[in-house]
Amino acid sequence: MQAAVFVIFGATGNLAKKRIFPALFALSKQNLLPPKFKIIAAARTPFSSQIFRRTLRETLDLQNKDNWEDFTQKIDYLPLDVAQDFNLKDLGGLLDDFEKEVKTCPQRIFYMAIAPDIFEKATKNLGKNGLHQSCRHGGKPRIIIEKPFGWDLKSARSLAASITKYFTQDQIYRIDHYLGKETVQNIFAFRFANEIFEPLWSNQYIDSVQITTAERIGTEGRGEFYDKTGALRDILQNHLIQLMTLITMDAPTNFDAKSINQKKLEIVRGIKKLTADEIKTHTVRSQYEDYLAEEKIAPDSKTETYALTKLFIDNPRWQGVPFYLRTGKKLEGKVTSIIIQFKEKGHKLFKNFSQKPLPNHITIQIQPNEGIGIRLAAKKPGLGQELEPVDMEFCYKTSFDKPQPEAYERLLLDVMLGDQSLFMSEDLIEESWKVIDPIEEAWAKNLVPLSSYKPGGWGPKEADELIEKDGRTWLAPLLTICRI
Ligand code: BG6
Repeated sequence: MQAAVFVIFGATGNLAKKRIFPALFALSKQNLLPPKFKIIAAARTPFSSQIFRRTLRETLDLQNKDNWEDFTQKIDYLPLDVAQDFNLKDLGGLLDDFEKEVKTCPQRIFYMAIAPDIFEKATKNLGKNGLHQSCRHGGKPRIIIEKPFGWDLKSARSLAASITKYFTQDQIYRIDHYLGKETVQNIFAFRFANEIFEPLWSNQYIDSVQITTAERIGTEGRGEFYDKTGALRDILQNHLIQLMTLITMDAPTNFDAKSINQKKLEIVRGIKKLTADEIKTHTVRSQYEDYLAEEKIAPDSKTETYALTKLFIDNPRWQGVPFYLRTGKKLEGKVTSIIIQFKEKGHKLFKNFSQKPLPNHITIQIQPNEGIGIRLAAKKPGLGQELEPVDMEFCYKTSFDKPQPEAYERLLLDVMLGDQSLFMSEDLIEESWKVIDPIEEAWAKNLVPLSSYKPGGWGPKEADELIEKDGRTWLAPLLTICRI
């Protein structure tokens, strides 16, 4: 693999500690980093490299720190302020030194693990200091940015414009970490490598789809960011719309970023934009009790910690199928799942089958206990003709004895390899904002009143009422399959 140097801006922050360093360390333990590799950790705190390495060791929650010393030898720390253009010249110097040391042009990778409100200034300063240019022997630096990609369509466009001033699309890696999750990638395999499902994959057989990301945690020290963002922008606009896209898109011609993006775009463009009246009946916004008492939350905050929206795709394949997308914090448990409910066709034959909800649904459990389950109706043993719902399951844990890589391991490796297929494109982000903006605007005008829910449960009663009005019910509050 080509030599590489990772510059992590915001190296002392949460994202770096929780996701980036553990992922790079895991790659290093598996010998998946290039032999010529370096990390430049950059942040405002005036640490020496030695102190930074020691702090990192203490703060990282790693069960197994074998090989840690080897790994940390690859890390240098540089105090700088990328937003204020402080010390970027020294960064240029360090990059040049590494280039001389390895006698080749290492792939430069800039990881912008910084607060979203300084993205634009930071990119501008990289450009001003010539850091967006290739190193002396050629090569194009890559830049990694993380969601949120803007705040709405307008700010997403402005952010995109500021980055594309210095970096071309093939240099920009926009992370939505859900796309790096193993089970999410398995959606492709499940749909396109198993001929039995694809013929059923349309409004002819599918009744509805429920996509849920439930979390047990609250704002966890991210109050300042979260209070400005809310559940709709934090999770639904990106992770949940992406899951909806993967479950509904047509097969791409191949696995390259362009083909996948093209098929995804067709779906997101086809999502019907809700009118103000529809927003009143198709969405729920809610906040958990005691949210206002948390650190760095405005005392009169109207930010939602639970968001639900019912969406439709305006194309012949999906016309009329409701997609219920919901996410919330401080719920009973952590689970992300997609449940595909099939239409009721033959049950009438079994008069005494009164079980609700009806079986015949497929669950794709993204986390935890990753797996896929099919709920079927089976004949109860005995002389009668009674039916009972049963589950057929495929669980990663029992089917494979290999641990699954963390999403960030996969994504960071792909950045080094130059593969953009699991990353977000600018047009996809903009199309998703077009779905979300009208909802945000209506909520800001209080067209949908903010309700509240008790922590530790399954969210507000309004969410149950919304789906029950449609004659349906939530199929999976908690883990339904692979309870091992
Ligand atoms: C992030 C959100 O994108 O995803 C967080 O900003 C959320 O608020 C997190 O907690 C959930 O990710 P995961 O991988 O734990 O489901």
